[in-house]
Amino acid sequence: VEYGNETLNRPLIHMTPTYGWMNDPNGLWYDSKEELWHVYYQYNPNDTVWGLPLYWGHATSKNLTTWTQHDVAIIPPANDSGAYSGSIVVDYNNTSGFFTESTDPAQRAVAIWTYNTPESETQYVSYSTDGGYTFTNYDQGNPVLDLNSTQFRDPKVFWHEESQKWILTVAKTQQFKIAIYSSTNLTTWTHESDFEREGYLGYQYECPGLVKLPLPKNDTTSTENVLSYSNGTLVSNNTVPAETDKWAFFISINPGSIQGGSSTQYFIGDFNGTHFVADYPNTNVIDLGKDYYAMQTFFNSPDGDVYSIGWASNWQYSAYVPTDPWRSSMSLVRKFSLEDFQANPETRILNIKSTPVIDYDVFNFGETFAYENETLNTNNTLHYDLAKNFDGLVEFNLTFTANSSAYGNHDFAGLDLFLRGDMNKNEYLRLGFGANAAAFYIDRGHTEVPFVSSNPFFTDKVSVNNQPSEYVTNEITKYKVYGIADRNILELYFNDGSQVSTNTYFFTGGNFIGEADIEVAADGVFEIEDFQIRQMTL
Ligand code: FRU
Repeated sequence: VEYGNETLNRPLIHMTPTYGWMNDPNGLWYDSKEELWHVYYQYNPNDTVWGLPLYWGHATSKNLTTWTQHDVAIIPPANDSGAYSGSIVVDYNNTSGFFTESTDPAQRAVAIWTYNTPESETQYVSYSTDGGYTFTNYDQGNPVLDLNSTQFRDPKVFWHEESQKWILTVAKTQQFKIAIYSSTNLTTWTHESDFEREGYLGYQYECPGLVKLPLPKNDTTSTENVLSYSNGTLVSNNTVPAETDKWAFFISINPGSIQGGSSTQYFIGDFNGTHFVADYPNTNVIDLGKDYYAMQTFFNSPDGDVYSIGWASNWQYSAYVPTDPWRSSMSLVRKFSLEDFQANPETRILNIKSTPVIDYDVFNFGETFAYENETLNTNNTLHYDLAKNFDGLVEFNLTFTANSSAYGNHDFAGLDLFLRGDMNKNEYLRLGFGANAAAFYIDRGHTEVPFVSSNPFFTDKVSVNNQPSEYVTNEITKYKVYGIADRNILELYFNDGSQVSTNTYFFTGGNFIGEADIEVAADGVFEIEDFQIRQMTL
């Protein structure tokens, strides 16, 4: 490979536009006739920074791992305007009246999006009769929602089975409100309630989304749950029917998020068709990294599970990242599920667990390097030369224990996994664990790319408030992490996805990860239960 060429840092399985600028994922839906996943996105084809006119770009995938780009799908009506973020639903029963028998029910795609002009933000409806490639604006009725506001955007629609209605959530961004509307035909909307000023506010609310998730079996955290413990065994009290689902309400905040800049928070609670009520007022953050924003879930899926995508960047620095001729990628697709999660030794909470969706059939693999059940010492370092002629896609699993009785006399008992560039080993990623702090951090600051050292918002270290995967004894705790690095983005899944941290990184173009080392800074503290790493290529 040609060292030093930025065009070489394009991720392989994280979706990127061929050229131009991309931000939020939009209109995610699954076409069950073609068995095809559609992803649209905020797109400026004329430059590699955000700008008007702003379009909906379009890509599809059969396997959620490799992507095909298509022509723009939604075109803003004027040059100083934008087709801002929004969603797509499949109108199987033609409730809108837009379709005839000639459009298969599984392909009756209706898009609801924000039309941004210098004067206002209003909600527009468009529909597609060709399976989601081109859209016709509903000119007779647009806008379908107009509050005479310039800060009213990002409609996300879903079908609410219980009330047999379409539900739309949309942000009154600078009032910290998410408005909830209902409709029977996708064009006439009734205001039901506002979810107001909860959780983390930051500067503004954007990109809301409400989604139903099944409760984990034998859930012990829900207040209304009727399961209880008797003699140490979980028993069910059959007099009250147990709740089977909960609702997750997602709200993106930018700027001013917990990590700095942009991130997506969520609440767990109940939705009755008109109002969302959170079980507890606490905010959860769906991804603890710096690069995961404007998360949206898919309408429809083959197995009924909830699939999602986030924009893998941060408004703090997205316009300056060193990629060319495109800017930004999406996250991997993730499946969401609710889990009964040990937040600390005394309390269990409902937590959303993220599982990356990767189709391994599309890859060729390099050799798998593995290491098991060994205590690591300062004079015992693991070093692996990964296979050559691979191109920058690496995954690993690491499970280890830390012994607190042994690290007390060290200022910093660290374990480091280094992932080094093949051509220039001074460029590396470090996944560090500090036993004293009982926390991981990702260190993406060691590169020769000027942007990384010159942009202070591109935080070089990002820590993760993880939990042990197991309290083995009073003194020994176990930690577990899966990581996947794809040329300029690293996704880390702790404890099988209970916590996730997504961060972009930038090495000199073509300097793909080719070496892995594990080192420790203290003796007798760490035992590697399992470490595996391998290269993959398309
Ligand atoms: C979020 C956002 C949305 C808006 C879009 C414009 O990243 O600001 O609120 O619809 O980007 O591109």
